[in-house]
Amino acid sequence: MFVTRAIRLGSKATSSVSEELRVIAPSKLAIEDVSKSFKTGTGVVQALDRVSLQVGEGEFICLVGASGCGKTTMLNIIAGLEKPDSGTVRADGKPVTGPGRERLVMFQEPALFPWLNVFGNVLFGLKLKPNLSKKNRHDVAKYYLELVGLSRFERANIHELSGGMKQRVSLARALAPNPRVLLMDEPFAALDALTREQLYGDIQKIWKARRKTIVFVTHNVREAACLGDRVLLFSPHPGRIREEFPVELPRPRDINSVDLAAHATQITKALKSLGQAEVTVAR
Ligand SMILES: Nc1ncnc2c1ncn2[C@@H]1O[C@H](COP(=O)(O)OP(=O)(O)OP(=O)(O)O)[C@@H](O)[C@H]1O
Ligand SMILES: [Mg+2]
Repeated sequence: MFVTRAIRLGSKATSSVSEELRVIAPSKLAIEDVSKSFKTGTGVVQALDRVSLQVGEGEFICLVGASGCGKTTMLNIIAGLEKPDSGTVRADGKPVTGPGRERLVMFQEPALFPWLNVFGNVLFGLKLKPNLSKKNRHDVAKYYLELVGLSRFERANIHELSGGMKQRVSLARALAPNPRVLLMDEPFAALDALTREQLYGDIQKIWKARRKTIVFVTHNVREAACLGDRVLLFSPHPGRIREEFPVELPRPRDINSVDLAAHATQITKALKSLGQAEVTVAR
């Protein structure tokens, strides 16, 4: 139970816990004609070539494609961590010009601070919210640790956690500043099938409860069909969106369901026709 507090510290207003935890409107993303190339030792790599993509408010989009086809570059550009050579990214109509707490990224490697415990790592995410008092910051961090099922481990050291638990901490840290968009770059790729299966259930629940727009990158076609409202296939060199698959299965979805397997098979066929053998359909 969180009690609303509106405290004034000097002249600086602090926001209340219930204000911080309220479900806010997810963003609509408009990506138009985005191109990006990199100079490397051996020449220029065209990572993205005139990519356009509209993502609706609260939509869950999965990007699938072979290694090197520009998925991470796309996420970084949406996050504002990387600038496109040309083209625009707009979030709710406003151009994205740099990183901000409205759009946060969760990476494949947990990227947690080993010198902070679980609680400290989630609190760190709240540094992006300077208007919170210390007490409220703690209450918000506790809420998100409970949401990801880690309340019992808040004092644990990072090295004591399993890979799945570390990703839960990363998720809590990314959720804590209450972003409108969550950008996830193969967050479950290094986990075993059973742990991933639990996380598929949890991420669907959290997405429903917290209403985020999610752009999720994966090599795993079944995972994409399990999570996405739409699955977009990228092809490499130059990176382009080649095909789009709406997944209209009811939620929550079970990764083992027959209907889901049928969708995954269809997507895999399309990937194979693009010559992308390394993308996996395995769980
Ligand atoms: N900072 C960089 N400097 C040079 N080349 C880069 C840089 N970042 C990405 N590239 C190149 O751009 C292309 C797209 O890279 P990106 O990391 O976006 O691919 P990806 O689809 O995320 O691949 P993976 O599935 O392996 O993570 C690749 O050919 C990569 O080598
Ligand atoms: Mg990548």
